[in-house]
Amino acid sequence: MDGNGRWANSRGLPRTAGHAAGVNTVRTVVEAAVRRKVGALTLYAFSSDNWHRPRTEVGAIMQLLVSRLPKESRKLAREGVRLSVIGRRDRLAQDVIRAIKAAETRTHAGTQLHLRLALDYSARGALARAARHLKSNRNGRPAAQDFESALAGAYHCEKPVPDVDLLIRTGGEQRLSDFLLWECAYAELYFTRCPWPDFNDAALDEALAEFCKRQRRFGRVPSA
Ligand code: IPE
Ligand code: MG
Repeated sequence: MDGNGRWANSRGLPRTAGHAAGVNTVRTVVEAAVRRKVGALTLYAFSSDNWHRPRTEVGAIMQLLVSRLPKESRKLAREGVRLSVIGRRDRLAQDVIRAIKAAETRTHAGTQLHLRLALDYSARGALARAARHLKSNRNGRPAAQDFESALAGAYHCEKPVPDVDLLIRTGGEQRLSDFLLWECAYAELYFTRCPWPDFNDAALDEALAEFCKRQRRFGRVPSA
């Protein structure tokens, strides 16, 4: 979900207006993802490094969550979309945590799409926490599943942690920025200059069409 700030500034608006516009894109993209039968969609809403932004901007993003989650989660529940939030919760304000928990409870029965919102998320943070957890819990050598299980537990994810098939980055940058590093081991990467507030169903279709053209080999040779 990158490019909100630049989108707003290019219109002479404050960055926070870009974040508000970005919430509307979430709605558009969720509806498109349901139509396209995407099973799971993870949106990188706030990284752990985003805490270093000006206090007013961080506050505006948190306020958007508190003000929009109740109404949006009611819509998601009607559409059969299950919302979960991955990331750290210990640094979020109580009203944000309450809004998240209420939204997760309200949407828990959804089967059409699993929408994951990454909030105070850092892939390195999750990996480090998983490693610490394993170290303190085991004497023998942990298996890969043990690690995946610890990784899921570290940041409120499901078990097993789902692999990413397609990573779409909006806003023109070409980097991963500490997002789902373990889960993206074999992700197809798709970069678009389109800023998040302008991303829509046609843009998602373009990304999906590109994904369909990729040959995924997972380190093997193509089957004859
Ligand atoms: C992404 O947009 C949203 C968040 C990280 C909260 P940015 O705020 O990073 O927008 P740009 O990259 O400055 O345009
Ligand atoms: Mg950015």
